Amino acid sequence: DWTMGAYREQAIQQIRDQVGDAKVICGLSGGVDSSVAAVLIHEAIGDQLTCIFVDHGLLRLNEAEEVVNLFRDHYNIPLVHVDAADEFLGELDGKSDPEEKRKIIGRLFIETFDKEAKKVGGAKFLAQGTLYPDVIESVSFTGGPSVTIKSHHNVGGLPEKMDLKLVEPLRELFKDEVRALGRELGLPESFVGRHPFPGPGLAIRCPGGVNKEKADILRKADAIYLDEIRKSGQYDKIWQAFAVLLPVQTVGVMGDGRTYEFVCALRAVTSVDGMTADFYQFDMDFLGRTATRIINEVKGINRVVYDVTSKPPGTIEWE
Ligand code: XMP
Repeated sequence: DWTMGAYREQAIQQIRDQVGDAKVICGLSGGVDSSVAAVLIHEAIGDQLTCIFVDHGLLRLNEAEEVVNLFRDHYNIPLVHVDAADEFLGELDGKSDPEEKRKIIGRLFIETFDKEAKKVGGAKFLAQGTLYPDVIESVSFTGGPSVTIKSHHNVGGLPEKMDLKLVEPLRELFKDEVRALGRELGLPESFVGRHPFPGPGLAIRCPGGVNKEKADILRKADAIYLDEIRKSGQYDKIWQAFAVLLPVQTVGVMGDGRTYEFVCALRAVTSVDGMTADFYQFDMDFLGRTATRIINEVKGINRVVYDVTSKPPGTIEWE
């Protein structure tokens, strides 16, 4: 569309004016915002940009490969893929408090990113996919409630620590505009239309403790759930849908044997901005079919429940 075409040209010029011939680093998460920011900046300054993708081992099924394929192989953007799963899962081992888990992940993320950025060397700018609502939110939160519901994980704190200036080419855009810009830049629809995914990843979808075994079980259940949602044509009607692996085992029967395995909760919500949300009303056939597939195909799960809590009083994620 012509508006986004014009925005793209103007943004590219602004990025060139701002950074000159300096090096820029950009944290890629696999999400829409950082992906669009990276491709836009790469159009503007080419190989002056290096992307750093910190893989904490808590991503969805095949997600890391998809990110690497798209950016390194398709767009030819210099990309450092850091496999830090062992460090993250190691430090999370035995930790079950939601805020403690979030803080561990936030700290490790910054440390890992910082270390890799130093290896790239000589960068003067840090690119972030900050959107307009993020800008507003951080302003309106000043003087707001003093209760932290969840400490969000992002790369905040990095620029000061590393003495970098920020490049934020999406600062004036809303989510739907970022998606339009992503399409304008030729990003595949499967990337542009993606549901949001939280920085701490599957760690906050395994309430209680998380480890590799649990993350692997959850990845499989989540992939089946999303596959059924896509096949039934409902993906774009939903703001966010995901599976949660509960720290509860229940008794079941399969064939002529007793099972004692984990419960999987399915969550899907509609929302405009993530601040409030309604649970999504699937039909029961859909839920039954999906539950059957998960229980048959995923070893470690023998029961599936559906979360019918809206926000408030629930939050979208379980932790
Ligand atoms: P809640 O669970 O607070 O989530 O209702 C609202 C939206 O924010 C996402 N979320 C996060 N995103 N870092 C992020 O980048 C985080 O730490 C984080 N925690 C929650 C959540 O997925 C939903 O879209």
